Amino acid sequence: MKIIMLGAPGAGKGTQAKKIAEKYGIPHISTGDIFRANIKGGTELGMKAKAYMDQGQLVPDDVTIGMLLDRISEADCEKGYVLDGFPRTIPQAESLTNALNERGEKMDYAVNVDVPDEAIVTRMSGRRACLACGATYHIVFNAPKTEGVCDTCGEKLVLRDDDKPETVQKRLTVYHDQTQPLIDYYQQAGILVTVDGTKDLNEVFKDITVVLGE
Ligand code: AP5
Ligand code: MG
Ligand code: ZN
Repeated sequence: MKIIMLGAPGAGKGTQAKKIAEKYGIPHISTGDIFRANIKGGTELGMKAKAYMDQGQLVPDDVTIGMLLDRISEADCEKGYVLDGFPRTIPQAESLTNALNERGEKMDYAVNVDVPDEAIVTRMSGRRACLACGATYHIVFNAPKTEGVCDTCGEKLVLRDDDKPETVQKRLTVYHDQTQPLIDYYQQAGILVTVDGTKDLNEVFKDITVVLGE
């Protein structure tokens, strides 16, 4: 099963993608997590990406598309995957569609996690992230068992550099401008599913599994 997560920054794409990956036994591929791992590791790719991410801007397509297409060619992707944060622009979506066409494959679902902008800023200020395994927590809505420590891998949780309120605003603007058009793109492709992302995160997941199947 091949799934795309769509939604504004902070809508809960990462939270739901992790649950989907666990339930259906497919890899969770987050371009944001890949960039953050590269920043942490001090790679050239990381240095390039950081300059854009800290401004709330998108990393250029020429960097991002090749990186993602390489990732989905790896052996663990044979049974499918859940993409989180890609595609984010029409050229990214078209490159993905074309690459899959060439292999005689296609995406199964694009899950749009719908949350209004007003709710986003509150969520982001309480978010804590694990840069080691990509897990995401919230100090109120999804607290880790031990404060400041990742349940999954035991690493220290951090505030993301791009979660400052003014950067979140910028990311929302970029989202409406460049990423929201993908909702129409996947509607026309006939694979769009929209869920109400303002519900409790377990409710949201239930709504998603109704569509994906038990
Ligand atoms: P990326 O890491 O993808 O960030 P994003 O899209 O801005 O989304 P977030 O990760 O901030 O939010 P999310 O939807 O995953 O929400 P989460 O589950 O954490 O990208 C970062 C940057 O990298 C981009 O700005 C760009 O520069 C670059 N980049 C990445 N991909 C790119 C691409 N393809 N092209 C170009 N550039 C790219 O949830 C948020 C919070 O809310 C958490 O605290 C969570 O616990 C909580 N929460 C979740 N669900 C609920 C709920 N139902 N109720 C209450 N709280 C909830
Ligand atoms: Mg995320
Ligand atoms: Zn972790």
